[in-house]
Amino acid sequence: MLSKFDLLRCPVCRADLTLVERTLRCPQRHSFDLARAGYVNLLTGHGAAPAEGGDDARQLQRRDAFLAKGHFDRVTDAIRAVLPPGGGAILDAGCGTAYHLQRLATGDHPCAGIDVSKEACAFAAKRYPKSGFAVADIWRDWPVRDACADLVLSIFAPRNFVEAARVLRPGGILAVAYPGPDHLIELRREFDLIDQGEAKTETYAAGIAAATAAPRHQRLRAAARLDAPGIANVILMGPNARHARLEALPPEATRDVSFDIELLIARKPA
Ligand SMILES: C[S@@+](CC[C@H](N)C(=O)[O-])C[C@H]1O[C@@H](n2cnc3c(N)ncnc32)[C@H](O)[C@@H]1O
Ligand SMILES: [Zn+2]
Repeated sequence: MLSKFDLLRCPVCRADLTLVERTLRCPQRHSFDLARAGYVNLLTGHGAAPAEGGDDARQLQRRDAFLAKGHFDRVTDAIRAVLPPGGGAILDAGCGTAYHLQRLATGDHPCAGIDVSKEACAFAAKRYPKSGFAVADIWRDWPVRDACADLVLSIFAPRNFVEAARVLRPGGILAVAYPGPDHLIELRREFDLIDQGEAKTETYAAGIAAATAAPRHQRLRAAARLDAPGIANVILMGPNARHARLEALPPEATRDVSFDIELLIARKPA
């Protein structure tokens, strides 16, 4: 029977997993129980402790509130434009709340997200019970089958192009989004935020070309006036969660903010 975990494989022996009641099992009897929230933890053995950098529950709430306003929807709109009309199987690497995954999910195609944060997987699994979510580290082997995905997403997340290329079907699409030089530039200056904006496109494009095929580059620019909760959300949902000093911001404050998102899209040779 089809299961929402069909894209996943055993992290120990790499065999396919089958869902039996609330446990995923491989033929070698490695087994992984679903957590109550409906996700599965596939971090194993040595290094089973999550890598640093996973989002916590507060960041997820901030991210959820911010993304719900649609400020970053142009990323998935641009990706949708290159997908075949019927859609396909999607793997979201570093899925967070899985907002973007869900915007692209279509019909009965299996969709899955991996994230090193248990909180993120729990959040996404509760919000989107039709998709499968697994705790896994992007920097290690992904517990994902070879050549199973029509689309791999990497949106504002750590990038492992070699694993992304492995799990893509021939002809499948890799979409990688990351902040451009002017992303949140006004807030970066005012609140002394971590600078995420150095030019990375050449490095990423070379990495993607080596793993799959040369990507096409788009720069998605926009601006919005954010109110005080919006400003707090966009700062605290990301890597500045522990850095930013927002106390000085009055509740009636607004700021005009630039969004500058770089998008690389490559198609794995058929
Ligand atoms: C900035 S958030 C982006 C989330 C989502 N892609 C989005 O755009 O809304 C980065 C995500 O990557 C996850 N992450 C960080 N390091 C990771 C790692 N080594 N392996 C898997 N996920 C990781 C975090 O837990 C977080 O959910
Ligand atoms: Zn196994």
